[in-house]
Amino acid sequence: MSELSVDHLLGIKHLKNDDINLIFDTADHFKKVINRPIKKVPSLRDITIANLFFENSTRTKLSFELAQKRLSADVINFSSGQSSVSKGESLVDTVNNILSMKVDMVVMRHPNPGAATFLSKHINAQIVNAGDGAHEHPTQALLDTYSIREKYGEVKGKKIVIVGDILHSRVALSNIFALQLQGAEVMVCGPKTLIPKYIDKLGVKIETNLRKALEWCDIANMLRVQNERMEISYFPTTREYTQQYGVTKELLESLDNEITIMHPGPINRGVEITSEVADSDQAIILNQVENGVAIRMAVMYLLASKIK
Ligand code: CP
Repeated sequence: MSELSVDHLLGIKHLKNDDINLIFDTADHFKKVINRPIKKVPSLRDITIANLFFENSTRTKLSFELAQKRLSADVINFSSGQSSVSKGESLVDTVNNILSMKVDMVVMRHPNPGAATFLSKHINAQIVNAGDGAHEHPTQALLDTYSIREKYGEVKGKKIVIVGDILHSRVALSNIFALQLQGAEVMVCGPKTLIPKYIDKLGVKIETNLRKALEWCDIANMLRVQNERMEISYFPTTREYTQQYGVTKELLESLDNEITIMHPGPINRGVEITSEVADSDQAIILNQVENGVAIRMAVMYLLASKIK
């Protein structure tokens, strides 16, 4: 397989396992590039990419922008807070105005699930979903799964538990799809109130006891509680959540198995994970961030071949 089966990266749900393998093999090449003294290649010279962020981001925005610059693309950035969106302009009007400046590809984060798919049907440019509400965050899942492959050699047969606020998490859904395509076993763990009812239809195991989940897994991907997406309380207090679902050094040391700790960021230190765990050798959190640049270079490089 030499090209992706899709014209846009809207979600992992639309990918085949061969697409993921192609992205990973391409990312292997770009990871070597970004670790060379000269980190830049001309692959996307003359391609213009717009980064449209209608929701806050640190890692994803910086990672996409760095990946674009490493590929020699021309880049324009847009954040909704400083734009005419606050004056009532629609998403399609905003994007069409940007596209009339001859943009070839759009990377978009938006609070509404389905926003990237909507855009792909209305504008003539390659679309990369950088997170749409609580729906999907495909490049995060790709970099997470790639980081597991890098650490263990393969993803097939690995047991991964995703811990925390599954209900509001786009990272969880995209990870479930990517890990299952790659042949991993997936469990979700958290308070019942933060586990969506449809989850058993996705073929994942469900566990509400953190110790049991950690005893089962090779890798634990810790999620942040997404207070910004909650209109009601899903657990009594943050302190109680941390007591039941926070990972501490003492808890990890009491297990018979040594597990790898992942986190997509941003971390709430002392809530879902202590600083000691986040900064320990068991955590590969910064490797995930490094791999994010190579993965995003690979995705944009492969999608650029679809530009008409
Ligand atoms: N992991 C992630 O999406 O982080 P940001 O919200 O900072 O982009």
